[in-house]
Amino acid sequence: MSLLRSSASDGPLEVASPDEAKRVPLEREELVVIKRPKSQQAEQFRTLRNSIVALNPEGAPRTIVFTSALRGEGKSVSVLNLALALAELPGIQVAVIEANLHSPSIEKYLSLQRRQGLSELLSGRLPLDQALRALSVNGVSILSAGSLPRNPSELLGSDRMRTLLRTLKQRFNYVLIDTPESSTTSDASLLGSMVDGIVLVVRCGQTPKNFVDSAHNSLETMGGNVVGICMTGTELENTAV
Ligand SMILES: Nc1ncnc2c1ncn2[C@@H]1O[C@H](COP(=O)(O)OP(=O)(O)O)[C@@H](O)[C@H]1O
Ligand SMILES: [Mg+2]
Repeated sequence: MSLLRSSASDGPLEVASPDEAKRVPLEREELVVIKRPKSQQAEQFRTLRNSIVALNPEGAPRTIVFTSALRGEGKSVSVLNLALALAELPGIQVAVIEANLHSPSIEKYLSLQRRQGLSELLSGRLPLDQALRALSVNGVSILSAGSLPRNPSELLGSDRMRTLLRTLKQRFNYVLIDTPESSTTSDASLLGSMVDGIVLVVRCGQTPKNFVDSAHNSLETMGGNVVGICMTGTELENTAV
């Protein structure tokens, strides 16, 4: 019996063909590091990048979860911009994993077709090399969500997920993981306990402080290590690690 389902609007997802994502230019305005490279927002993502790199003077491979208290605070856009900023550094290879198996959006922001990905891989139905897609920007690859599973937490908490993270650390310098908001599922806390660090995304002036504190506490209670806050939603975007 299959526990995977496609979203209501599409049929079964196809496997990505080799290099198909390499031919797709990045067009979305939210990808400020590419679209407005000299903007203050792009610079703020470079500041976050520099802080993350500085935390890691030996240059060991790092896995980092991005989450937020609430939906729509800018997690997915921030993960992608940080990946683009990291890939500006010479020789750095970055993988972005879409681990929001409830409401994925990475492919939308990258103007890519939805394809099989993490859920098929964690179900043992898709090899890693067919799940990873290299983008048109050198040094960045993605592992998209794939079909929406009925049991996201079970898949994300599986031994296969831990093995995947170990394997990706052998191939990439940074593995950035986009997750759902921590207020409605435990997926972010679960993944947060498996990685080297967590960045908490906070939309400036909107998210009540008690929601941010509660998200922070629950991530650390589960064993996660919150290494930084990424503030979004203002021209004067702010990042701190
Ligand atoms: N830096 C940004 N510049 C412009 N719009 C942004 C930025 N970050 C997020 N947004 C907008 O905020 C909304 C939510 O962003 P998203 O990253 O999808 O949030 P989340 O992943 O936390 O649910 C989207 O409409 C996105 O276009
Ligand atoms: Mg998102």
